[in-house]
Amino acid sequence: MKKLITLLLILFISIQCKKITTFKKTSYQGLIAEKAIVVSARKEASKIGLQILKKGGNAFDAMIATEFALAVAYPFAGNLGGGGFMVYRTKNGEIGALDYREKAPLLASKKMYLDKDQNIIKGKSTIGPLAIGVPGTVAGMFEVHKKFGSLPIEDIIQPVIDLAKKGVVVTKKQEKRLASYLPSFKKTNKDSIPFFNVWKENDTIKYQNLAITFETILKNGVEEFYKGETAKKLVKFIQKEGGIITLEDLNKYKAVWREPIVFNYDNLKVISMSPPSSGGICLAQIMNSLEPFDLHNYKHNSTKTIQLITEASRRAYADRSYFLGDPDFVKIPIDTLIDKNYSKKRMESFSFEKATLSSTVSHGNIQIVESNETTHYSIIDQFGNAISATTTLNGGYGSKLYCNELGFFLNNEMDDFSSKPGEPNMFGLIGAEANSIAPEKRMLSSMTPTIIEKNNKLYMSLGTPGGSTIITSVLQTILNVHEFNMGMQQAVDQPRFHHQWLPDVIKMEPNKFDSITKNNLLNLGYNLDETNSPIIGKVNGILVLENKKLEAGADKRGDDEAVGF
Ligand code: DON
Repeated sequence: MKKLITLLLILFISIQCKKITTFKKTSYQGLIAEKAIVVSARKEASKIGLQILKKGGNAFDAMIATEFALAVAYPFAGNLGGGGFMVYRTKNGEIGALDYREKAPLLASKKMYLDKDQNIIKGKSTIGPLAIGVPGTVAGMFEVHKKFGSLPIEDIIQPVIDLAKKGVVVTKKQEKRLASYLPSFKKTNKDSIPFFNVWKENDTIKYQNLAITFETILKNGVEEFYKGETAKKLVKFIQKEGGIITLEDLNKYKAVWREPIVFNYDNLKVISMSPPSSGGICLAQIMNSLEPFDLHNYKHNSTKTIQLITEASRRAYADRSYFLGDPDFVKIPIDTLIDKNYSKKRMESFSFEKATLSSTVSHGNIQIVESNETTHYSIIDQFGNAISATTTLNGGYGSKLYCNELGFFLNNEMDDFSSKPGEPNMFGLIGAEANSIAPEKRMLSSMTPTIIEKNNKLYMSLGTPGGSTIITSVLQTILNVHEFNMGMQQAVDQPRFHHQWLPDVIKMEPNKFDSITKNNLLNLGYNLDETNSPIIGKVNGILVLENKKLEAGADKRGDDEAVGF
């Protein structure tokens, strides 16, 4: 009997040890701050956010400032002509989410991107005026201010206006990006725009017209963008270019507060974006599938770990394509999808011996185009409020159509709809009826702004751009911290990989994974592709350390930078 008790005790302790074994402590850290951090794609935007915090503003005030400053400093993805999502957790532990996603215009229709033979007309949903969804960013920011703002909106927007007037210095990466997009700017815009210039590193770009747009919005409030002179100018411009957005579309646009997706993983509570983003649901499905396995002991980016994440992702993305769409239009079985037993069942067909074929889950043969044209920022303030926000024009510089008079690019978010069932969009994502186009419907997203609690306390705020790779990038960063004991910066810096069911291939950041692991995976039947994905995600995050200080992770794959105090 004594023996049996000892045996049971040993068994119990070894199970408990699953997540307790510690790895070598993180060898380096990102920016450490005592009280508050803002991390975003450009230091100019992070600094304006921080300035607002230092003035006594909260994370929500700082969010508005950062989002608008990105519209100036990072026109690649920051925007007035796009949309986004935000997840928050207040200092009192209240959680919520804001959907300021674009909508299809009233004149949009299910087959608007198909020719008479029902084939997709290439480029119609991605470039030029018909690609544009009704923008949500300005409505989103004013909605945040209405609910949570503590500083007057003037105090928040004025530094952004000053930045637009003073101008923003071109970085090396920006110089390259602008050069590579120059031909499509010229092809898409009839009128000359500032981006026809060949901008070089250290040049300063001033955004005078954008400054005036901000000034009129500041003077007349949110109505200016959706009903006022700015709205009229915008509609006139889009229609002159051949677009279908009307004043009624702008009049009717509303940002919507949503219930975030919430689930547990070990002792973490993950709070992430709900539909019309697929981010939270897919993240929950993947993490639920992984939880029963001992990733910690399999080790970071080992064959087994990559295999498991791949197989969990394969199954989650297959569901994404079938079930998910705008919740105001389609019924989504959220509770089932994020149920741990459901994921357990989905993983029953998995074996470490051999890759599951996506063709046994469904069929298709398509290409992913990788890009990082969205942008994510995270803020934790000195009061303990946290926000996590991802904002986008969709493709780099959106539809490439630039409204010169107002000073901003317009999105090409319409491509996130499924133009034709079974046909991939620009991220290789396949959709079904749930994500078909309909007037006023929101297109399905992968954006995954996420906040995490550990033992009921604020622990992390993170997110990333990267189209379909957003979900798997957020996932791997969380696992790097939780399972592999890394700090925030180290977690962000790690090489990433991605699988999205179709195409049936593991995309990997090139030359970052060791050849033994790659050979193992090949032998197990996995297809690997290192050729077309130089960057998978650009993650920005903040981690609350054990000593209550904050650590930022700013992704050096971009010009991203954290500031704090
Ligand atoms: O909402 C989405 O999922 C996409 N429009 C995000 C686009 C994106 O991340 C662009 N960068 N790759």
